[in-house]
Amino acid sequence: MKFLTSHADINKIDTDALVILTDKVLSSSSKYIDDNLQNCISKMLCEGDFTGKNGSSCVIRNVRPNIRRVILVGKEKNCSFQKSIKAIENAAMLLIKKYINSAVWVIDENYGSGEIEIISRSILQANYSYKTITKTNLESVCLWSNDKESMESWSRDFKYGAAVGKGMNTCRHLGNMPANLCTPRFLSEQAISIAKNHDNVEVEIMDEAQLEKLKMMSLLSVGNASEQKSNLITLKYKGASDDLKPIILVGKAVTFDTGGISLKPGRGMDEMKFDMCGGASVLGVISALIETKLPVNVIGLVPAVENMPAGNATKPGDVIESMSGLTIEILNTDAEGRLILCDALTYANQFEPTYVIDIATLTGAVIGALGKLTTGMLSNNDELAQLLLQSGTSSGDRAWQLPIWEEYDEQLESNFADVANIGGEAGTITAACFLSRFTKQYKWAHLDIAGTAWVSGKKKGATGRPVPLLMEFLKTQAC
Ligand code: BES
Ligand code: MN
Ligand code: ZN
Repeated sequence: MKFLTSHADINKIDTDALVILTDKVLSSSSKYIDDNLQNCISKMLCEGDFTGKNGSSCVIRNVRPNIRRVILVGKEKNCSFQKSIKAIENAAMLLIKKYINSAVWVIDENYGSGEIEIISRSILQANYSYKTITKTNLESVCLWSNDKESMESWSRDFKYGAAVGKGMNTCRHLGNMPANLCTPRFLSEQAISIAKNHDNVEVEIMDEAQLEKLKMMSLLSVGNASEQKSNLITLKYKGASDDLKPIILVGKAVTFDTGGISLKPGRGMDEMKFDMCGGASVLGVISALIETKLPVNVIGLVPAVENMPAGNATKPGDVIESMSGLTIEILNTDAEGRLILCDALTYANQFEPTYVIDIATLTGAVIGALGKLTTGMLSNNDELAQLLLQSGTSSGDRAWQLPIWEEYDEQLESNFADVANIGGEAGTITAACFLSRFTKQYKWAHLDIAGTAWVSGKKKGATGRPVPLLMEFLKTQAC
């Protein structure tokens, strides 16, 4: 799909659809178009076909031979950023549903900063489908405005949003794939193919023998009973000079989480194929970095395992030694995410990172706390926490902070090991407390995406979150 920009004479435009987001009071460019197209917009407003309210829309056919449709979508002035995103998403969805080939999207002074990239991102999101049998029609979307001066920066944002959108779709697709296909080995192959043909991207896959040599016994304990071999994927993106210390993204990739011996109940268990969405978001971010060429150094670490019960499975009460040397009493084999993350977090140390961020579908409890709208964020560093919250807000992919005070940590005491793998109350917080024992040497944040990585019900599927938040954060780090 092509993402273009233009400020050509409106009479020279040839398009299937002119897209205008507005409310009752036309902005300068919608007014200009209205004047040039026989007042088609003001007529619709007058006659009540279009209200201009958020969520409303109206399609006007056969305006001119060279402008086959005008699509009006309600976007109220001074509405919240989240509502603007909704309006843009509605318009993007209409373009896909109406089988449109080419569209021209009218921009004006009512588009705030950050909204241009939402357009391309939303179009790519609307265009995604897991079962793509026929390719959709939309071939090009051109931003149009009579404001020549802003065009250059809009064009940059438009392309940037497209890269984020593609990264989200990479993440969504891996998330949606069934666990019989999307195995640890498959994820490794995906990482290899992402790195292919890019001199500034390196990939390394460590197999079980190598992980054993590194003493990652906690990571290995989770995949013990699976036929699928565990591995650790390292993807290095080099966008800046070598002396710039890397930012490390650690993504949980449990390709299927049965719970192990602490077996999960049957209802909805299929959704545990999404338990690799943290890892998938890391692969999505690295792909988007390659496309945007952001001047940052990022290392993605993806521990990939399958959590199964069998005769050789880890059992409740088992004690294992992690790479860090800390021993762990496994009280519940369903608290497996932290067991693979802790070894990857220890491994991260050697790269002398500026920041380490892990992304994981870690606890059902985060849904109780924040619902399905908001990612849980916990951190051992206030400056990093603020940066991530801000990135969430400005990308519309929001997170909210929960505390990891030491009083919570007491719940992880064990009579038989240095730490237990579960606590009592406040499951999201105690999970982060567990991880924090392995991240003392650097600035670290944890994103619990158990609520946000996918939606359930009729529209079941991966969301591509938190790729926008992470890309926004990395963009601020590049400046
Ligand atoms: N992958 C799950 C978390 C999860 C559960 C995500 C439900 C989305 C929906 C994780 O591995 C898990 O099982 N966590 C347990 C932890 C508990 C045993 C302390 C949970 O949340 O129930
Ligand atoms: Mn689990
Ligand atoms: Zn899990």
